Amino acid sequence: MRKSIMPTRRSIQFKLPAKRITNWHRDGVNISQYMNTMSIFLPVGERFFIDSVRHFRDQIKDPELQKAVTAFIGQEAMHGREHEELNDLLENTNTPAKKQEEIVTKLLNFGKKILPAEHQLAITIGLEHLTGLLANALLKTPENVEGSDPNYVAMWNWHALEETEHKAVAYDVYLEVMDRSLKSYMIRSFWLAAATGVYFSLQYPFYIENVRRENALLDVGQWRSALSFLWGKKGLKSQCVVDWLDWFRPGFHPWDHDNEYLLAKFDELLGEFTNTPLKSAA
Ligand SMILES: [Fe+2]
Ligand SMILES: [Fe+2]
Repeated sequence: MRKSIMPTRRSIQFKLPAKRITNWHRDGVNISQYMNTMSIFLPVGERFFIDSVRHFRDQIKDPELQKAVTAFIGQEAMHGREHEELNDLLENTNTPAKKQEEIVTKLLNFGKKILPAEHQLAITIGLEHLTGLLANALLKTPENVEGSDPNYVAMWNWHALEETEHKAVAYDVYLEVMDRSLKSYMIRSFWLAAATGVYFSLQYPFYIENVRRENALLDVGQWRSALSFLWGKKGLKSQCVVDWLDWFRPGFHPWDHDNEYLLAKFDELLGEFTNTPLKSAA
């Protein structure tokens, strides 16, 4: 039987220290700015995810999936709120967070205007696959962020844990509205490849600019650390490649990669930031 996990909406505030915003990672600016650049995409990206799933909410017959959708919307809204705060801190430095966010917003609004709702949902499940894999990699190798500012680490861990918790919700909605036809397979396969390509073609130029703004563009040692953080043996990205490809298997489901055991680490990973879950409400 297919696994399904009911996400829980939690409101946690991380009191991110403004002084550390571009240098919160143990190994310095280049890794901090990599993660910060990812954050720039999140509030607007997650609003797109919410809208694309909400569009189909009334068509869902399974009451458990209905409930999971409500919780998914609640979680993504909370993520957006916290990342907006992080992005505001960034904007107060030399990093052009708002300008970069505007570019992403324009692109997503254009997608909303021209694409059918099913395709927008396919983009969402593709990007949820990507975020689910990055979350899994982050949680599996806590040594990659050990010794960094605890507030920033807790925030990223919280986001990663909740991404893990709800990683199949949008996918299950897609299955319910599109079923397992060849057409639905083709659409989701196309959009994972296209959305991943578009995401990285924006993220890397933004990232390089954001490193340049911190005068670290020519720092070879910093680049070496960033390369190992992303593409080393236990790198954030290198851990994702095989599972990313698994998407193209016709019968794929996100819980085929069963990492539920990570969810038991909520208290351990969040420490003082753990709080009482909220009732889900969209
Ligand atoms: Fe999220
Ligand atoms: Fe998500």
